[in-house]
Amino acid sequence: MTTTLITNIGELTTNVGVPGDVCGTIHAAAVLIDDDRIAWAGAAADAPSASATVDAGGRAVIPGFVDSHTHLVFGGDRADEFEARMSGTPYAAGGIRRTVAATRAATDAELRERLAGFVAELHGQGTTTFEVKTGYGLTVDDEARLARLAAEVTDEVTFLGAHVLPTEYTDRRDQYVDLVCGEMLAACAPHSRWIDVFCETGAFTSGEARRILDAGKARGLRARVHGNQLGHGEGVRLAVAVDAASVDHCTYLDDEDVAALAASDTVATLLPGVEFSTRQPYPDARRLLDARVTVALASDCNPGSSFTSSMPLMVALAVREMNMTVTEAVWAATAGGARALRRDDIGAIAPGMRADLVLLDAPTRIHLAYRPGVPLVRTVWKDGVVL
Ligand code: NIG
Ligand code: FE
Repeated sequence: MTTTLITNIGELTTNVGVPGDVCGTIHAAAVLIDDDRIAWAGAAADAPSASATVDAGGRAVIPGFVDSHTHLVFGGDRADEFEARMSGTPYAAGGIRRTVAATRAATDAELRERLAGFVAELHGQGTTTFEVKTGYGLTVDDEARLARLAAEVTDEVTFLGAHVLPTEYTDRRDQYVDLVCGEMLAACAPHSRWIDVFCETGAFTSGEARRILDAGKARGLRARVHGNQLGHGEGVRLAVAVDAASVDHCTYLDDEDVAALAASDTVATLLPGVEFSTRQPYPDARRLLDARVTVALASDCNPGSSFTSSMPLMVALAVREMNMTVTEAVWAATAGGARALRRDDIGAIAPGMRADLVLLDAPTRIHLAYRPGVPLVRTVWKDGVVL
């Protein structure tokens, strides 16, 4: 039996909340890893012995980031759209179709190689669990191919056949929704855990989205929703009505949306990389937190609205632009992501949890926001193994 003790941790973020500190911070701490799980966490002075020891040198340790929203299987990029946006062109959902064309044209080997590169980026920045969506195939075969490729790198695969209406169905919306609910869902469900819809003007109506989510649930998938990204829509209300694990974006909310979220188990996942990359206003995280809504942070890494895989950047943006405290932001990027994926084995450093941890090259998690853009991830353990 191999056990590893990480000791001399200056600041340990356990996420085992105590009154006044949702991050459950312990100073002068140690963590015992036994195989793929956390066996013990507490004051270094009380640490049990282990077969190997790692000296953290007074640095900070946090749970691995949980990025609950990415779109990492795609071909091409849309740098030209980004540049145009920075000169005033607004973001539009229709750009997705360009990536659909590039993705359909790419081989499995090309997509797999690209995906491997993104996974390396995620790991290098401290992300130990990540969700990946389909949604750039939009044919039965292409969606199934993307789901299969995503399942090679994560257990958290989301079928997003309802990302945008593909060009070839322009005048046949109902037929496309039928296809998503029928043959496409049947082909993707074996590789997927989740079903998602883009419920927004320019994508799918709440009626269409409801049909699709219900069909997915009938096949054993669980719901998540893209909603309220580009305007006040019905996405949030729909997500709550279907008991979605999460509704993502939440940029435009009215009081009713906030109240509905607060009374539900649906997490509000905020994606500040999108607002950064589209020059939209940031969501009002303070309003959600004050209403006691569970908030998660995720990257939404995709070639259109947010081409970054950096969870430390999300923390920095949430703190600087969305009035979250560092403690709230780090919690949201770790435990919040775990809630958004309805996982109880990740997102905290406590006995029985998966041994997914990040040793920062910093004395405190505050540096994640205080030193934006600086690579602060020193060592990453995933299931007890150093990546
Ligand atoms: O989450 N909103 C829908 N989907 C992505 C954007 C996809 C794209 O522009 O390619 C998002 O922002
Ligand atoms: Fe997205």
